[in-house]
Amino acid sequence: MNELDALVESARAQFAQAATPADLENAKALFLGKAGRITELMKSLGALPVDEKKARGAAINQAKQAVEAALTDRRQALADAELQAQLRAEALDVTLSGRQRGHGGLHPVSLTLERIESIFGSMGFEVADGPEIESDWFNFTALNTPEDHPARSMHDTFYVEGGSDKAPNLLRTHTSPMQIRHAVQHVKRHRSMIDAGLQMPEIRVIAPGRTYRVDSDATHSPMFHQCEGLWVGENVSFKDLKYVFTDFCRTFFESDDLVLRFRPSFFPFTEPSAEIDIQFQQGPLAGRWLEVAGSGQVHPNVVRNMGLDPERYIGFAFGMGPDRLTMLRYGVNDLRLFFDGDVRFLAQFR
Ligand code: PHE
Repeated sequence: MNELDALVESARAQFAQAATPADLENAKALFLGKAGRITELMKSLGALPVDEKKARGAAINQAKQAVEAALTDRRQALADAELQAQLRAEALDVTLSGRQRGHGGLHPVSLTLERIESIFGSMGFEVADGPEIESDWFNFTALNTPEDHPARSMHDTFYVEGGSDKAPNLLRTHTSPMQIRHAVQHVKRHRSMIDAGLQMPEIRVIAPGRTYRVDSDATHSPMFHQCEGLWVGENVSFKDLKYVFTDFCRTFFESDDLVLRFRPSFFPFTEPSAEIDIQFQQGPLAGRWLEVAGSGQVHPNVVRNMGLDPERYIGFAFGMGPDRLTMLRYGVNDLRLFFDGDVRFLAQFR
């Protein structure tokens, strides 16, 4: 390596060692400053003979340009590094996850109602919706439960303004008023058919919804759900009730060996009447009888209040508790959890 190449090498090495722009300026002075090594070489040119001057001058110039280029590179590198350091120092961490909006889901009782509707829908039942503020006529009287009937005492409820003296308004104590409401509509729609002696399309409906009673503990809430079922035609029997309800329960609980028991009972609007109990054969509740519905053959007086001739039309009705079904399906032991609105409980059903 000749002396000039060595000089350039040494400049590069010193520039590389400079960690700050100030260091670099000091290093630059060593080579390009007034008393720098390149400057000294230039000055020494004057003492050379003319014929050597040109070649030597060109070589020194080349070395000078190489040193200047090395200086520029290093300056740029230091500036880049400084910028990077600054960017790093001022960086904003935008990777922190934002506040999430929770995923909603249907309430467990709504899930049950949807399930009930889809199972009965597959059996050809319509779904009807009725008012929660009901008249005394539909809630009691039309259902063969006249004023002062002792059965009314089990349905203590909240009376609300409106209605008449003869038929005050109240919060419905069961979904059974929908039996009358729906049947009356159905009969009205098919009146001319019935009058002509033709066969009326059967009434086959379920009516889910909220109901109210003055009742409150771990298994009773002043507001609860019921789902009414009604099937009326010319040839509908208790056998059909047993078949339909058994099929429903087995489908609902996805359990083909579920056993049902129809226990004799009393309701003013059905005769005969039965309470329906179910028994699981497996699982934590195996062997226990659990009441899930009231039911019976529609009473002739009720058939009459539907606008039909009880000599010709017959049918069955049932009223079940979707809250109860939800507790059994998911193994919930306190009804109140459904209505507390605690998302930790509700989120489990998403
Ligand atoms: N409505 C009754 C109750 O709430 C249940 C029922 C419905 C019974 C239909 C018979 C027929 O207790």
